[in-house]
Amino acid sequence: MTNEPPDAERIFDEGADRAAYVRAMFGEISGRYDLMNRVMTVGQDLHWRRRAARAVVHAGDTVADLGSGTGDLAFACLEAGAARVVGLDVAGPMLVRARAKGRAISPHAGFGLGDATCLPLPDGSVDVWCSAFMVRNVPDLDRALREALRVLRPGGRLAVLEIPRMDSGFLRPFARFHFQQIVPRLGRLISGHRSAYTYLPLSVDHFLTPREFTAHLVGLGFEVTEVRMLMFGTVAMHIARKPLLGEPRSRMP
Ligand SMILES: C[S@@+](CC[C@H](N)C(=O)[O-])C[C@H]1O[C@@H](n2cnc3c(N)ncnc32)[C@H](O)[C@@H]1O
Repeated sequence: MTNEPPDAERIFDEGADRAAYVRAMFGEISGRYDLMNRVMTVGQDLHWRRRAARAVVHAGDTVADLGSGTGDLAFACLEAGAARVVGLDVAGPMLVRARAKGRAISPHAGFGLGDATCLPLPDGSVDVWCSAFMVRNVPDLDRALREALRVLRPGGRLAVLEIPRMDSGFLRPFARFHFQQIVPRLGRLISGHRSAYTYLPLSVDHFLTPREFTAHLVGLGFEVTEVRMLMFGTVAMHIARKPLLGEPRSRMP
């Protein structure tokens, strides 16, 4: 990884402002973000968001979609029966795209600026907390997950889609080749951004394995009900639940 632009690599250094880098970078790529997703996943990303939404949303639910970006998970939640979705993101230009799509799709999704680590939502106010491809980008992951627990009502559900770190498996060399060689080149070509898609594999390498993420959720008090690997193990879907008051803490599934 010697040819990485130093800005993408340095943001994982001690003391670097990763949150500011992430906010600026997603703002800069917002115009080509959806197209890049479709190309990079061969159109599968919409399907994963629908699947995550169907796993947690019940008819009439109030949903918080964190790191909502251009809104695709929020719209999948409405499709799955949610009555209302609040999409929050730190990158304003992503929200501009989400609102434009929302005008054509549904008036029941509202998008606003908000940080997953400090939510502008009351305790126990949502039935579902979900996020697609955000948690890997949050330096203080525990703080974001504690906020999820706070705003979820008891018995509420959590869905997280993310690209996990792959420690082993025969597909690992192929996945690494895809993320380290193909994605940055495609990303530069499609988004025109120098470092965004170089940052992506670095952020995956600095993230958790699916098992580690499960342990994290359980450690914070969630009951993890399902972990599903998608796209040849390169994408993980974690489904969890906030226990009811007085319910015993769950162990690793
Ligand atoms: C890879 S994009 C995913 C967007 C969308 N969820 C999707 O599925 O396409 C990650 C998004 O998370 C946002 N983000 C990163 N850190 C955040 C934080 N602490 N709070 C809220 N949003 C955040 C970024 O601005 C970006 O829009």
